[in-house]
Amino acid sequence: MADLTTKLLGFTLEHPIMPAAGPPVRNAAALLACAAGGASALVTKTISVRAAAVPAPNMADFKTYFLNTELWSELSPEQWLEEEYAKTQSAGLPMIIGLGYTAEDIAELAPKVAPFADAIELSTHYISDDPEPMQAAVRAAIEGAGVPVLVKMSPFREPQRAALAAQEAGAAGIVAVNSFGPAFGVDIANGGRPWMGGQGYGWMSGPALKPIGLRMVYDIARVVDIPIIGVGGISTGADVVEYLMVGATAVQICTAAITKGPQIFGKVARQLDRWLDKHGYASVAEIQGLTLQQGIPQMTAPPTLIPEKCVGCGLCVTSCVYDALYLVEKKIRIHAENCEKCGLCLSRCPTGALQFVN
Ligand SMILES: Cc1cc2nc3c(=O)[nH]c(=O)nc-3n(C[C@H](O)[C@H](O)[C@H](O)COP(=O)(O)O)c2cc1C
Ligand code: SF4
Ligand code: SF4
Repeated sequence: MADLTTKLLGFTLEHPIMPAAGPPVRNAAALLACAAGGASALVTKTISVRAAAVPAPNMADFKTYFLNTELWSELSPEQWLEEEYAKTQSAGLPMIIGLGYTAEDIAELAPKVAPFADAIELSTHYISDDPEPMQAAVRAAIEGAGVPVLVKMSPFREPQRAALAAQEAGAAGIVAVNSFGPAFGVDIANGGRPWMGGQGYGWMSGPALKPIGLRMVYDIARVVDIPIIGVGGISTGADVVEYLMVGATAVQICTAAITKGPQIFGKVARQLDRWLDKHGYASVAEIQGLTLQQGIPQMTAPPTLIPEKCVGCGLCVTSCVYDALYLVEKKIRIHAENCEKCGLCLSRCPTGALQFVN
């Protein structure tokens, strides 16, 4: 069994996997279900100075991506302060309280949530590209609550400048990323009706967001000294490995907790454990930031073939647009002179029968 212990903001978490702000943490009952489902810390749904009026419909799942038009919590701050936070504390897990948005909002809310907060997560989704309002919100949160403040970044902003500005303002960590958009979904079975209510637009999350989230974490990790929590498209232990390798210290899950339920947290932690064991790593710390030590790959020769690993599925043959690959008696062969070293076959092969050459 690998050591999944994760040190974050002075806490020692059992493993690096927690929920992200969204419906799976919409109130105390949902948060307690995340705890029972194996989350190592709890992040509460973003609240602001008043309850959000959320359009309906506001969620749709397309398997490779997910759309939503949720805003912040539909519960009032009073409801959270009088009931939900105190009930959530019974889980006995570190509590990261989601707040938004302006410095004025945060100055009002931070002292009130302070008795319940081990840390605060500030959403910057609805404030401008200019780092100044975000920095003012960070300072207001630190002053008002006196706990570590995380800044959650949206994927349509320039990451390094924003992360450095957050660090400069005193942020204790970065959370990357929020959902991407605005995006749009069309219900073709119903005359082309938009899937989302409100103005018809939605924010995209789920599997399609993962490469964008990874890029943001990779970029941020190269410029800041504070920890990063990776979020976007995580539903398996292997997804967590990717985020840890590009520099995240911990991760959050939202969409997969909606579509698969709150048991996902413990399940993903067990998958992470098995992956580490199988690949000879003793702890999450051993893989953290590995990608940052890698150079950018340069393919200088056609892939090496390992015919004994080839099962003859033909996936690489179909997609080699340069007609370099072919099968003989269900074993892979190559016209090396046709190979343009595009690298596509390496990701298509399910068995590792094609290997990268430096
Ligand atoms: C329905 C829904 C509601 C969300 N609400 C919030 C929110 O209130 N505050 C916030 O910072 N992010 C919110 N998010 C963004 C998620 O926390 C997360 O950053 C994003 O969905 C990417 O992670 P995922 O692919 O695991 O869902 C929401 C996402 C979804 C799908
Ligand atoms: S690297 Fe590209 S061109 Fe070469 S064999 Fe693979 S898919 Fe074909
Ligand atoms: S994808 Fe892999 S297993 Fe399938 S034919 Fe190509 S080399 Fe063989």
